[in-house]
Amino acid sequence: MGLVAYEVEGKVAVVTVSNAPVNALSQAVRAGLSEAIERFQSDAEADIAVICGAGRLFLGGADITEFGKPPMSPGLPEVINQIEASTKPVVAAVHGAALGGGLEVAMGAHYRVALAGAKLGVPEVKLGILPGAGGTQRLPRLVGVETALSMITSGAPITAEAGVEAGLIDKLGVGGDARAAGVAYAQELLAGGAAVRPTGAIAPPEAVDFAAVQAKLKAKARGEVAASVAAEAVEAATRLPFAEGLAEERRLFMTLMDTPQRAGLIHAFFAERAVAKLPEIVGVAPRKFGHIGVIGGGTMGAGIATSAALAGLVVTLVEREQAAADTARDTITRNLNAGIKRGKLSEATRDAILSDKLVTTVGYEGLSQADLVIEAVFENMEVKKQVFAELDRVLPAGAILATNTSYLDVDEIAASTSRPADVIGLHFFSPAHIMKLLEVVVAGKTAPDVVATAFALGKRLGKTSVRAGVCDGFIGNRILAHYRTAADHMVLDGASPYQIDKALVEFGFAMGPYQVSDLAGLDIGYMTRQRKLADAHPRDRAPTFADALYHKGWLGQKTGHGYYIYDEGSRVGRKDPEVEEIVAQARADAGVTPRAFTDEEIVRRYMAAMVNEGARVLAEGIAQRPSDIDVVFLAGYGFPRWRGGPMQHGDAQGLESILADIREFAEQDDHYWKSAPLLEQLAREGRSFDSLNKS
Ligand code: CAA
Repeated sequence: MGLVAYEVEGKVAVVTVSNAPVNALSQAVRAGLSEAIERFQSDAEADIAVICGAGRLFLGGADITEFGKPPMSPGLPEVINQIEASTKPVVAAVHGAALGGGLEVAMGAHYRVALAGAKLGVPEVKLGILPGAGGTQRLPRLVGVETALSMITSGAPITAEAGVEAGLIDKLGVGGDARAAGVAYAQELLAGGAAVRPTGAIAPPEAVDFAAVQAKLKAKARGEVAASVAAEAVEAATRLPFAEGLAEERRLFMTLMDTPQRAGLIHAFFAERAVAKLPEIVGVAPRKFGHIGVIGGGTMGAGIATSAALAGLVVTLVEREQAAADTARDTITRNLNAGIKRGKLSEATRDAILSDKLVTTVGYEGLSQADLVIEAVFENMEVKKQVFAELDRVLPAGAILATNTSYLDVDEIAASTSRPADVIGLHFFSPAHIMKLLEVVVAGKTAPDVVATAFALGKRLGKTSVRAGVCDGFIGNRILAHYRTAADHMVLDGASPYQIDKALVEFGFAMGPYQVSDLAGLDIGYMTRQRKLADAHPRDRAPTFADALYHKGWLGQKTGHGYYIYDEGSRVGRKDPEVEEIVAQARADAGVTPRAFTDEEIVRRYMAAMVNEGARVLAEGIAQRPSDIDVVFLAGYGFPRWRGGPMQHGDAQGLESILADIREFAEQDDHYWKSAPLLEQLAREGRSFDSLNKS
């Protein structure tokens, strides 16, 4: 029977789905399940059936690769209705995970057993859809509206244990064998004369204040629609008979299937999985990295050390003086304590880290046993070279020398050592123990097993690692520098920083560029501009208003004042008329007559700049594929996930249209607005960035 096996054991029909790696409910699996249930109906040898999954989990949900393609029969809702309508009882035996359509299959069964630790979830909203195979109607009938809403609108799974408590799971299985647990439970049910028990026959659940639920969801949605529409479907469960509720769920499901948000979120899902696929490390074993060294105990070094210690690695942090080493230890302790508050670790784990895993010390000699050392010292080539000379002297052969620089030339750093093949960039984002993004900067001579180790380390730290080539700013900060300039130009030409932030937050960004400046510190931008001054072109337009704020000591949140004013204890800023005056002065100094911008033009300029520079980064091989750029912006720059990332956004807009925008903007400024040759080529050939992901 192909991907679905049917066997009879005692009076129990065992239906096993084997569709590695995650038992996705592809057309062949749906057809196999349907056939198995039909066979069970007429099988005189079997009085009860158990559905289980082979391999590491029960069922991972619908086959996401089928989305956006013409539907293929039988549909999952029909198969689940068929299971529920069985005249003999059906048991679902869950291990590992039952996700999305997988949990919906389990809810279509009459009884559910799950092994301890199994995860039960309906993550559909994360893909821009809703549980469309009866999930929004069956889950509230089993667990009540409140729990169902929480699971469906967050997409977060619960454990089997919580499932028992909520009424989703009837029995917690023992041992590691779901099939055996399922058969044992089935036999117990048979012995007790258990009958069929369709979830759909349960009376509609009690309603809650859905208007309040919707208001809350919309307030945090940042433009994303799936959770709100999913809550509408749950509401339908409270007021419609089951069959009509299913029909309403289907109608709402189809509206979501047709949104570009669904395409954006599914693009993000696959982009995040593609990012670790590097031809250069296929079959290459990583080196060991159990003992990590960190040079420098500032915010970044301490954050990296926290991240490594939290992942169970041994960490030696080196500072120049004892006082600085002690401060670093305090910072790490504070990071860990904050983690305890957020429920990320226990006090016992913190104590074990501080006593057994973490050494803060002075002098490089403590690194003689280290496997991989990451320096996070001052961003200056000479300082870095001194550090690398010391590392070269003390580290054992085969150790990896990594720099956390955010823009310096990693090739030059590598060339200053006697072992350039062992040198790599590991660009963390601050705070390093929280931010997901890790840019792995591969230099010209970096050995493949060093790259493999960096990716293995990233995985161990729970990071999203993206391969980047060497250039000023790598992938993320290089593109950021470019679109940030587009924003500054708009301010110089008449848009207020507040309007720009508002327009981009409405577009879906976590923050606008001037809010980001305030968070990061205006000194960072100032120093970057100073550093690049020598390379400046006479036609570059300097954001003199930003320099003026810097010189006033308004450095952002840390000084309580930047583009915004931060009242005592507040991280939300309010507008400052004085900043508007400073901006007005900068325009006057530049001889600009200010003009009005619409929010729509702001977004168009910002995004065209981002996509254009993204195309250059691709053409230069700094990023391997367009979807890697998308992942950088989703994981590290607060880009709205439902738009899939900047390159996916470019595709969704149409590259012709982005190019037309750039040409239009170039009519006023043909120095800044030069279209990237790759963008021109793709537009000319009628191709998308996504065509490069696939090639
Ligand atoms: N469909 C198709 N392919 C899938 C898939 C799915 N539902 N889930 C995972 N895969 C693929 C991945 O793309 C990956 O492929 P490659 O190896 O080629 O990259 C492979 O399976 C392994 O996946 P992971 O690397 O993610 O493995 P993991 O062990 O880290 O995680 C998992 C396993 C928890 C199941 C995770 O893959 C996951 O969260 N999958 C998505 C689950 C999901 O969202 N299900 C709901 C689908 S929507 C639905 O069911 C709609 C409905 O109501 C009808």
